[in-house]
Amino acid sequence: VSISPIVDLGQRLERRWQARDYELKSFPDLCAEELETAELANKVSPEEIAKWALTAELPVQTDPKAKFGQPPLTVFRTRRLHIDVLFWVDGTTAIHDHGFSGAFQVLAGGSIETTFGFSVTRSFDGRIQLGGLGVERTRLLKQGDVRPIKAGPEYIHSLFHLPRPSVSLVVRTFWDPTPGVQLLYYPAGIAHDAFFEDDARDRRLQLLDMLQKIDAPSFDALAGALVESGDLHTVFAVVRSIARLRDTRRQDALLQRVRDPALAALFGRWLEQERRQGMLRAARATVHDPELRFLLAVLLNTHRKEDALSLVSEYAPGADPARKTAEWLRQLSAVTFPLQVAQGGWQPNVLGLPAFEPGFEEALAGALAGRSNPGPEQERFLAKLGTLSVLAPLFVD
Ligand SMILES: [Fe+2]
Repeated sequence: VSISPIVDLGQRLERRWQARDYELKSFPDLCAEELETAELANKVSPEEIAKWALTAELPVQTDPKAKFGQPPLTVFRTRRLHIDVLFWVDGTTAIHDHGFSGAFQVLAGGSIETTFGFSVTRSFDGRIQLGGLGVERTRLLKQGDVRPIKAGPEYIHSLFHLPRPSVSLVVRTFWDPTPGVQLLYYPAGIAHDAFFEDDARDRRLQLLDMLQKIDAPSFDALAGALVESGDLHTVFAVVRSIARLRDTRRQDALLQRVRDPALAALFGRWLEQERRQGMLRAARATVHDPELRFLLAVLLNTHRKEDALSLVSEYAPGADPARKTAEWLRQLSAVTFPLQVAQGGWQPNVLGLPAFEPGFEEALAGALAGRSNPGPEQERFLAKLGTLSVLAPLFVD
């Protein structure tokens, strides 16, 4: 087994980039151009790459702890650049920018890519920022598609991988001096450097997690004291850790101890969005039908009706996306969690949708297409759907 087309690409890129004295500005386009012409998706399969890796002498791995990729695999490296193959088994919705530059290509599978812009309202130590995150666009990436990567907030995106596995190949620098950090962004309006290690903070959080796991009665008081006295990094870390608490009243009580009320509200929105994502993920783990799984991925990854419908029409060309979406939601309303005992004759479906009575699917299709709906019963049904956070993107114009 050989991965020679990838090695050829790496050597060619190294030569061409060296001839430009490793100019960072031109690197993303250079990588994208070489990836487009190399047509690697037709020449090497992910299985071959995995086979090669299990027997060949591997280059030094750049991410041995597999922080990004399930797993990542460094297949080629020089002093200035490296090529990684990233295998993905579970979709991730992490919205991030990059501390490096280069380009990536979808080798196998496909993904939903959403790009964002972030307007900073407050920056603290350069590793944590507050601001507004806005969606630029959402699209499907297919096998062979190539995207250049510019370091920093100019290119903020999330990639949600659909088939298992999806595999991308990344040609990249090790780390660029500017901006020098790589940030994770959240729609609630906060961005932070998830790679930033702070021994004391990390150890305190590990201790809190331990107390939480054993249901220690002192947990709330200790977490609350840390929320009151900690720096913003620590407070946000505590908020991320209390996302695992099932009890929203305990979460709210802890948030009330955040000194700045505006920050407390932001963290409240953050927790709400986490809960929503958790519900959609749990549903996705239960649902096996590929079309319904796709709709759940759309709900996880879009923020506006227009984007949701355009993904549906890319996925099901020729069908009316509003009708398709309504039909899929009706089908989802009949999917229940396994092993759940119906109590009092009521068995919740995976998204907690109200029952679709005759005519409701059509009413929903009409509402999604922007047509008005007759009938008070349909209006009540649509109003109920509008209150469900899992469906939020479908009700944002
Ligand atoms: Fe990325």
